[in-house]
Amino acid sequence: MANTNARILSTGRAYPEGVLTNADLEKLVETSDEWIISRTGIKERHKAADGEYTSQFAVRAAQQAIERARIDPSEIDLLICATVTPDQILPSTGCLIQAELGAHRAAAFDLAAACSGFLYGLTLANQMIRGGQARYALVIGAEVLTRYVDYTDRSTCVIFGDGAGAALVGASEGDERGILGTRIRSDGRYAEQLYAPGGGTRLGITADNVNSGQHYFRMKGNELFKVAVRSMADVSREVLEEAGYKGEDVKLFIPHQANQRITDAVANNLKVDSGIVYSNIAMHGNTSSASIPIALDECVEQGRISEGDLVLLASFGGGVTWGSVLMRW
Ligand code: UT7
Repeated sequence: MANTNARILSTGRAYPEGVLTNADLEKLVETSDEWIISRTGIKERHKAADGEYTSQFAVRAAQQAIERARIDPSEIDLLICATVTPDQILPSTGCLIQAELGAHRAAAFDLAAACSGFLYGLTLANQMIRGGQARYALVIGAEVLTRYVDYTDRSTCVIFGDGAGAALVGASEGDERGILGTRIRSDGRYAEQLYAPGGGTRLGITADNVNSGQHYFRMKGNELFKVAVRSMADVSREVLEEAGYKGEDVKLFIPHQANQRITDAVANNLKVDSGIVYSNIAMHGNTSSASIPIALDECVEQGRISEGDLVLLASFGGGVTWGSVLMRW
């Protein structure tokens, strides 16, 4: 299977029914609908209820993608669950999803690259398929971030939401369609710009650590903002240039949905027309690794992508991590 292209064959998405509006947040912290919309673009976000957990949304999104690709789950060779909010420490959420789907032949695992997790997963799936190691790969981004949000911290609690998105990637021989280029990067020197110190082996699960909220996300939003814009624009430009394209050639641009102002700044930097930039942040907030596959599935549903279109994806997240994927749909 040398020289095989990898192509997204189908997508799916799922999220909790529960919704947290800006008005709800106004009752919890000193904030306003006006501040949240003008500084982030977010109006509401989905929030899992007590008892709901990450793999449930992942399985629903994955089942849609599998049904739409008209394959049997047993044909999947690789199952990657990008998440920073796994169901439990052991085993991986990927293995739990695998069992629910009946994808018994797949190598399943979790991938922790925060908001860039889906693009990291797509990059690995692309290589496995091109190398002949896999024919079908399921790449999922799934998060229940709200479990790690401190609802007394206005700088983070207005941002994050829950959900899952999935893409079924398959071998596509003998045509021009498929993934044209990928680039993933990280820089751990910025680790403390977005992190949750507790819950692991360093600050264990003790009553003291839980009571003092060590497991909650902390974010230096303002500093991240600048790095996010620069990194996403740089890596997208690299992927475009390497494949011989310019921003003007792109028909659909889906950046990670972190902040509407970040999206606008990256699009402006790349000189892509604002009309081809997809945004759903108003209704979902920032769902980390789930944001790009959810957006992709919405674009497919809305008929925003046609066969042959050049589609650019870009992400940035905790770690820090960032990346870009260019594909011909
Ligand atoms: O997922 C990928 C990683 N994450 C990101 O890329 C996030 C990037 N950062 C951001 O999206 C933005 O930095 C935020 C939305 C988080 C914050 O917006 P900002 O415009 O950078 O605000 P800021 O942190 O500079 O704060 C400005 C002011 C501060 O008040 P003072 O010190 O000027 O009096 C904050 O205390 O806004 C205040 N503030 C709020 N006010 C009302 C912060 N959060 C809120 C809030 N409501 N929710």
